[in-house]
Amino acid sequence: MVFGISRIDPISELECQLASYVETEYAICTSMGRTALLVLLKSIGISTGDEVIVPAYICEVVPNAVLKAGATPIFVDINSENYRISISQLTSLISKNTKAIIISHTFGYPEDINSIKSILDKIDKKIYLIEDAAHALGALYKGKKVGGFGDAAIISFTKNMANFGGGAITTNDLKIEANARKIINGSRSLATKYALFFGMLSFFDRYRVNSIVNNSLMKLLEHLPKVIGTAAESYSEELKIPEQKQMSWVQAYIALIQLKEIDYSNERRDRNRRILDGMLAENSKILALNYDYNNIKCASTWYVIRLKSSVDMTKILDNCRKHKMYFSAFWDTIPIQQRKYNNLKNIYALSNAVNATKSTIVFKMGVKLSRRSIQSICDIIREVVIE
Ligand SMILES: Cc1ncc(COP(=O)(O)O)c(C=O)c1O
Repeated sequence: MVFGISRIDPISELECQLASYVETEYAICTSMGRTALLVLLKSIGISTGDEVIVPAYICEVVPNAVLKAGATPIFVDINSENYRISISQLTSLISKNTKAIIISHTFGYPEDINSIKSILDKIDKKIYLIEDAAHALGALYKGKKVGGFGDAAIISFTKNMANFGGGAITTNDLKIEANARKIINGSRSLATKYALFFGMLSFFDRYRVNSIVNNSLMKLLEHLPKVIGTAAESYSEELKIPEQKQMSWVQAYIALIQLKEIDYSNERRDRNRRILDGMLAENSKILALNYDYNNIKCASTWYVIRLKSSVDMTKILDNCRKHKMYFSAFWDTIPIQQRKYNNLKNIYALSNAVNATKSTIVFKMGVKLSRRSIQSICDIIREVVIE
């Protein structure tokens, strides 16, 4: 009996509990969310010549997984008012080569799943619908947990859970489950070393003291693979997707404990989000995200500040750090893809995603915040971000 968990294999226990939580038939654990995505793409047979539609405003590891599977990511723009994908553009991007669409419950806010499904229902060939629920474990769309709507979904244990890496695939499809297990079991098993490496990486990333100390530590950690073995070696490769696909027992134990708390922490984060939304509502320089909150329940993993105009991100982020507020700018995906591949198809049609990278600041929402601390966060936002 360890941490109150009676099964010998914590990974199988986690898979049972996660499947029952998300209400899918199967859950398959992996080393990270990004490896879950790569394994999933391979499990549904994505390969060279296939196109996979990916939101243009998303973490670069998502299109990277598509590239690593051998396929081409086709970016679809977002709506500026809520960062969900543009349904009209999505329709125009579907081609004879489209094999899958990845939708993302970005920052913990569920996508408009029904609208996307109704587009797919009109197409007379199979296009896989993959939910990227990395940010949103426990969030609800029309009363049902995200992660159970598409053909399969991926989850990360480092977004609204605090863990040393860890991810999972959820699905009701037995074939996807069997293929995924084959791929994961066939991969190298260096899970514990990998977890150690990634744990240190995310620890320093999360609790960064200042940019100089942080950068030096990150540089040091990038050299650690040579010291602790090949487990983490592939992490520093360009696509940032490790070869290590298996989850470690340490990750599983931590996830099992945190899964028990996830509803409580989502509830608290969303309550804090609502309070902060109210405090910032009157601000002339911030635009509220536009959702029909009657249809969704958010995990509110990140708080999103959508500014009315582009700003000098570096300056704002430095100012925030001085106040010990760790904001970040999400995401540089399009410039990164352009730099790397120089052949991005519909770049000119991605203006909302490009604007979002220049005018959006986010921070991880705390769970245990008093009204007073939310007020001080609001004061810092007013002082540093807006004025
Ligand atoms: C939207 C999204 N999907 C997937 C991932 C990958 O998750 P992980 O960090 O567990 O590999 C990330 C990581 O930042 C992400 O932001």
